[in-house]
Amino acid sequence: MRELSLNILDISQNSISAKASVVEVSVEENSADNTMTVKIIDDGCGMSEEMLARVNDPFCTTRTTRKVGMGIPLFKMAAEMTGGSFDISSVVGEGTQVTAVFKTDSIDFTPLGDIDSTVITLITMNTHIDFLYRLIVDGREFVLDTKQLKEILGGVPLNEPEVVMWMKEYLKEQTQIIRGGVV
Ligand SMILES: Nc1ncnc2c1ncn2[C@@H]1O[C@H](COP(=O)(O)OP(=O)(O)OP(=O)(O)O)[C@@H](O)[C@H]1O
Ligand SMILES: [Mg+2]
Repeated sequence: MRELSLNILDISQNSISAKASVVEVSVEENSADNTMTVKIIDDGCGMSEEMLARVNDPFCTTRTTRKVGMGIPLFKMAAEMTGGSFDISSVVGEGTQVTAVFKTDSIDFTPLGDIDSTVITLITMNTHIDFLYRLIVDGREFVLDTKQLKEILGGVPLNEPEVVMWMKEYLKEQTQIIRGGVV
């Protein structure tokens, strides 16, 4: 895939299919050891141990529209290609946690890409689900929490154009701040 944010979108779609009510996406960059750790955590239906053991296999899918599930194998490959690591843990009825560590100095590292658009897409297409997006760069952190946003907005839906514009600006501005740029 051209950019990791598309893999992240894919993995988050799994959480949505698993009927999660809260999905947490966190991206943590660390320049001291050239790593980027991506976590996608959900409180969806989870997977049995048997399913979990097979999930890295592209021919393991509960899809009915086609026989191959590529989301997890592709994300795993993208991480391991860089010399990083991949882990998935899950408990039936509790949820699933996917962790991928990338070595950002590897020539096989795929850039994160437009993660803001991925986050906005997830939020606006699934307004019934709560998303928590966390970006951490060398210990500086910001969070976009739709649960909080919904409280502030009262009944205004998250896919209202003005709200979408605000979220876009907020993500851009906060990202610039923690990346050390001037706003
Ligand atoms: N977060 C999750 N919670 C519960 N089950 C999951 C989760 N993620 C993956 N699975 C299970 O693992 C299977 C494989 O996932 P994977 O993303 O690799 O392929 P897919 O979703 O089936 O197809 P694709 O991603 O190519 O559309 C899924 O069909 C689903 O049954
Ligand atoms: Mg999938």
